[in-house]
Amino acid sequence: METKTLTKKPQKSGKKVDKRFKIIDITMKRNHYRQDALIEILHKAQEAFGYLEPDVLEYVAHALKLPLSRVYGVATFYHLFSLKPSGKHTCVVCLGTACYVKGSDKVLAALQQELGIKSGETTEDKQVSLLSARCLGACGIAPAVVFDGEVAGKQTADNVLEKIKDWQQNGEE
Ligand code: FES
Repeated sequence: METKTLTKKPQKSGKKVDKRFKIIDITMKRNHYRQDALIEILHKAQEAFGYLEPDVLEYVAHALKLPLSRVYGVATFYHLFSLKPSGKHTCVVCLGTACYVKGSDKVLAALQQELGIKSGETTEDKQVSLLSARCLGACGIAPAVVFDGEVAGKQTADNVLEKIKDWQQNGEE
């Protein structure tokens, strides 16, 4: 079986746990796992991930004991939610306070300029989707950026542009 990077349920696998799931956990707990809090929970999840991807939707459905179809139904019905972006690669820049004060706005601006797209968009060649999030749960390594599900800390405009160039050069990966 293939293992996907990062967006895994926080299980005791001994592997790195994605802290963003903790943000979802806290929100669900605060709402006593009420099914009618689904929108609020998805909203929080999107703030943390930048978009709602299948693993996240499954995680929420499971925790709230809701059919996945219902969670997908809500996620696709409301315009404020965006599902996994269509680019081959995704880059999520954290604009939460801790990251912002350390210059994540400049990181995002550099990416927007280089790629010629705004946050929330995908390049025409479908290589890169650029997104932003409010807090990735990695404030200690601010400013944080997630490249294809892998959180990278202490990012600068220069090194994110390098990463993007890498992607562009190695079209197949
Ligand atoms: S504010 Fe960026 S990880 Fe928390």
